[in-house]
Amino acid sequence: MTNRDVIAAWDEHSRTHTPFGPQGDFAREHLLNPAVFTLLGPPAGLRVLDAGCGGGYLSRLLARAGAHVTGLEPSAYIAQARAAEAAEPLDIRYVQADLSAGFGDDGVYDAVIANMVLQDIPDYGAAMRHCAAALRRGGRLIFSLVHPCFEEPDAAWAAKGYVAVAEYLREHSQPQAGGPPLFHRPLSAYLNLVVEAGCAIRRILEPRLDDPADRNAHVPSFIVVLAERG
Ligand SMILES: C[S@@+](CC[C@H](N)C(=O)[O-])C[C@H]1O[C@@H](n2cnc3c(N)ncnc32)[C@H](O)[C@@H]1O
Repeated sequence: MTNRDVIAAWDEHSRTHTPFGPQGDFAREHLLNPAVFTLLGPPAGLRVLDAGCGGGYLSRLLARAGAHVTGLEPSAYIAQARAAEAAEPLDIRYVQADLSAGFGDDGVYDAVIANMVLQDIPDYGAAMRHCAAALRRGGRLIFSLVHPCFEEPDAAWAAKGYVAVAEYLREHSQPQAGGPPLFHRPLSAYLNLVVEAGCAIRRILEPRLDDPADRNAHVPSFIVVLAERG
């Protein structure tokens, strides 16, 4: 699949799925948002790019916390984000663009956050490079992924008590129920791209829940990486 095919699939997704609430879905509210905000530090006054912002729930959380936010989104999800901004203005700027193609904001941001985005982009190397280039020196790159080591859905853990890994090293696409595919790459592919883009990895979180009945008390669904532009 090309980037264009994937963006068209996200267009369709935006027309058929219920918009997120203010905190996103359960995983975002309880796992991803706390990790992202921990790695970001106090948002007030920061210039932040929400790269691949979807319907913009994270852009709005960041703006409410005092950040100056730009949301970048190539698909029709941007209409949801713009509608929310029109309904409750938070001074968020939305740009419709493909992260892999570049968007002309080099050196501008204190932080770039790609929340659950890079695993969805065929040309993820260019997307990572543009995220890094958008940072000022010392700026923070934060990205979250479906954990590439443990991609089986929560239902698989619930049924078996473990998640299986059959093909880790080979890059491949995985169909997702009711949505665009996920592109699997080994973790090293992402981490090496960060380093090649001139960033130093500072911290990695594998968010967990306390409830022993939940898979995320045992096997993380996500990984969240903080890097700093040198
Ligand atoms: C799983 S959603 C995450 C959306 C949002 N960050 C969130 O957490 O709700 C993945 C997003 O990546 C976007 N995306 C796909 N291809 C992209 C590209 N080439 N450049 C930027 N964003 C892209 C999709 O349109 C979609 O909004």
